[in-house]
Amino acid sequence: MKKYLKNLPREIKFLIDLAKKVSKETDMPAYLVGGFPRDLILGAKDWDLDITVEGNGIKFAEVLSKRLNSRLIRHERFGTATLILDHRLKVDIATTRKEIYPSCASLPVVSPGSLKEDLFRRDFTINAMAFSLSEGSQKLIDIFGGKDDLAAGKIRVLHDLSFKDDPTRILRAIRFQQRYNFKFEPKTLSLLKEAVKSGFLEKVNPHRMRDELILMFKEKDPSAQIKQLCALGGVSFISDELKPAKATFDLFKSINKEIAWFMQDFPFHKQFEAWLIYFAALLSRLTLTQRKKIARKLGLSKKEEKKIISCHKINQNFIRRLKNKRITPGQIFALLKPLEFEAIILLRSVSRDSVFKKHIADFLKVYNDLRLSISGDDLFRMGVLPGPKYQKILNRVLAARLNGKLSNRQEELALARKLAKNIT
Ligand code: CTP
Repeated sequence: MKKYLKNLPREIKFLIDLAKKVSKETDMPAYLVGGFPRDLILGAKDWDLDITVEGNGIKFAEVLSKRLNSRLIRHERFGTATLILDHRLKVDIATTRKEIYPSCASLPVVSPGSLKEDLFRRDFTINAMAFSLSEGSQKLIDIFGGKDDLAAGKIRVLHDLSFKDDPTRILRAIRFQQRYNFKFEPKTLSLLKEAVKSGFLEKVNPHRMRDELILMFKEKDPSAQIKQLCALGGVSFISDELKPAKATFDLFKSINKEIAWFMQDFPFHKQFEAWLIYFAALLSRLTLTQRKKIARKLGLSKKEEKKIISCHKINQNFIRRLKNKRITPGQIFALLKPLEFEAIILLRSVSRDSVFKKHIADFLKVYNDLRLSISGDDLFRMGVLPGPKYQKILNRVLAARLNGKLSNRQEELALARKLAKNIT
């Protein structure tokens, strides 16, 4: 274990040493499990810690969090706890347990179990290894051949019912296979295909499905992930109407480029949900009603649904207008301002036309940040009665300002006065 831990950042080594001490003091054997041993052996950099404890995970977490002076979230129902250390670091602590799934995709019935049972309940051999945190025996516990599978680049389930018990593992299998460029062990592949064919994914709770899909879209190459999903059985579990074509995957590729462009040119710009842009691209041939249905089915939040709907506003007319060399800054502003940020990045991905791309870049770089020197208060002082008229006047003044027709507050006020008389 020492050789693997050698190159870890100092704060992780400190955490592991402290967990070892707590294990000794509380007399509860503890182990690093899940993705941490896997990524440590692979040399990847995923520092979220997953600790499982023989004894009482919550008690162990309480002692550790006191020592660290950290926030602790208890999940009493599952006998687990999470320590939040800072925005980068999370430690999940659980008690070793066994799980029985009464039916396909149901919540498992959990009871205390040995370390072996705890490792056996997991998804794949590469995720079923443990590093012991006991003093003197800091070794890798690898009962199911995870290390050999890591070396051979294989995704292998631990038992035949794994995908039936928890069909989200179908998506997880694809995610890990694509992320590490691994292969499916032949029997695992046939179990996976069988599970897709049997419609097990349809039985998954919508919120869990949403979370798994988001994780797929957050991987480095979402296009490859969805392509593989399609190759192994399709995305009809999201919607029967969803039929990704070559154009969808081409769109994914140009989204990759646009996101990279955006991050480079606007490093301090507001946050946006990259996964949602890919997801909206996947839905791009669907009607508004179909999109709304999917958003509800997957339990997307209102905010996420709004973004998906905003992406639907992108149509041929929209694209044609933005390709027009004679469109004014004011018109570009009026077109793009109502769109969500995700929709604007998706829009820039749909065409290679340089004029079109420049118009969107101008909006993001210049027009979007421009503010008028007048406001509703000025209109009120002019005697304009509050109502929708305010927005109409201010929009027209802004358009004139964007088009370079006004250069100061006096000119803005003069135009507003004129508009107040003419606009009803
Ligand atoms: N696990 C499982 N079945 C699932 C989800 C999780 O068996 N459906 C187990 C696996 O052992 C996994 C561990 O719980 O390694 C932790 O899960 P999670 O944090 O979701 O995944 P990681 O393996 O850490 O993957 P990632 O690198 O994507 O975070």
